[in-house]
Amino acid sequence: MAFLHEDRIQTPAAQAVRNFLYGEGPSDISDNSVLHAVSSGAGDEAFMQRALVLAAKGIGAVSPNPTVGAVITKAGCIVGEGYHERFGGPHAEINAIASAACELSGATIYVTLEPCNHFGKTPPCTQAILAAGIKRVVVGTTDPNPKAAGGMEFLRGHGITVKAGCLEQACRSLIAPFLKHVTTGSPWVISKAAMSLDGRIATRTGESRWITSEKSRACGHAVRAVVDGIAVGIGTVLADDPELTCRIPHGGAGNPVRFVLDSTLRLPLSSRLCNTISSARTVVVAAETASETKKTELEARGVEVWLLPLAKDGRKVSLPAFLKRAGQAGIQSLLIEGGSGLNGSFWDEGLVDEMLWFYAPMVIGGLKAGTAIGGIGVGHLRQAARLKDFCIHEVSEDILLHGLLTDVNSFFVKGV
Ligand SMILES: NC(=O)c1ccc[n+]([C@@H]2O[C@H](COP(=O)([O-])OP(=O)(O)OC[C@H]3O[C@@H](n4cnc5c(N)ncnc54)[C@H](OP(=O)(O)O)[C@@H]3O)[C@@H](O)[C@H]2O)c1
Repeated sequence: MAFLHEDRIQTPAAQAVRNFLYGEGPSDISDNSVLHAVSSGAGDEAFMQRALVLAAKGIGAVSPNPTVGAVITKAGCIVGEGYHERFGGPHAEINAIASAACELSGATIYVTLEPCNHFGKTPPCTQAILAAGIKRVVVGTTDPNPKAAGGMEFLRGHGITVKAGCLEQACRSLIAPFLKHVTTGSPWVISKAAMSLDGRIATRTGESRWITSEKSRACGHAVRAVVDGIAVGIGTVLADDPELTCRIPHGGAGNPVRFVLDSTLRLPLSSRLCNTISSARTVVVAAETASETKKTELEARGVEVWLLPLAKDGRKVSLPAFLKRAGQAGIQSLLIEGGSGLNGSFWDEGLVDEMLWFYAPMVIGGLKAGTAIGGIGVGHLRQAARLKDFCIHEVSEDILLHGLLTDVNSFFVKGV
């Protein structure tokens, strides 16, 4: 593996990148590591790692639910496994119990997320655990969703031994978009860009296709497959006429919602976005003062138009208002694909949680060439956004810098 820094990032985007580049799930997690760890006595963490591998299989298919994995053991051996496979389908615990090769009295279950204790689309998993005769429950992370929480208390109250916080950081990172959405109402924001070594996303004449390699672009499509929405500014649509669909060989769960930030509704009716409505839900986000006639024309094409307040500058759509509305529409994760102006606003306002920046081994130069991050920028170095963690991958001849700006544990601090 070509990591240039220990790869600890476990978010859904990290899984998509690793899966695409190396054909694997969460880092350092494999069947072999489970067997090794179990034989050397490091049981709980090894079984939870296996549950994480299983959970990762649900990425892209279960939103707005979190991805969850479960493993059941008896006498130190795995006797059942499962994960939440699709939205509305049985939860991980239920699938693991159903898969069990023997009766489960006295067994231990490892679950990446606290078992639910409420009737949603399916009955509470806590009841199924009790009914199966399981005696010990090891939980990765608690559930901050007030509707689903309380599972551990319920189980303890029924005489089950519960251990919480096993591989907690990894279990939280795997569901970072869910955690942010359920605690703040806003989507988890990922900044993606393809640039030269000197941070240019286009030449001074506006040429931007293609800066990075085919493999980097395909990797970007693999990430599109695990997000709920993609956003670009109208400048990018006018320059590149992109389709913004997820074009990967084995497909994803479907195309993410396409958002265009376009205060005055300049989106041409002849654009690819307007003419590929059947492939993905398309939303233009405009100012409340935008033209009613153009709004009607776009809607007649099947484009949704959201009218939102302007930002403090009085000229562009307010991003906090956009994120709030997207969150209300069930968007838990949002990939920002530029260009310079939209990226600049997201970074200026400190709204980015994760970044995926692809660097091609070229220098474009020129003051008039588009830079990845426009906006105002910071006045002092101490104000600069700093990565909490990062790793670097080789992608063909390019470099991918994958960074985290938000600590998932912050979503568990009361009052967020
Ligand atoms: N290499 C890459 O990764 C990559 C990716 C994308 C684009 N590009 C390149 O980037 C260039 C386009 O950059 P750009 O800066 O012109 O386009 P942009 O960032 O896509 O669009 C900027 C426009 O979005 C609208 N907007 C609405 N709300 C906004 C807000 N809150 N903050 C910022 N903008 C908002 C504004 O137009 P209104 O005022 O009319 O609403 C603004 O002028 C093209 O050359 C394209 O090829 C490169």
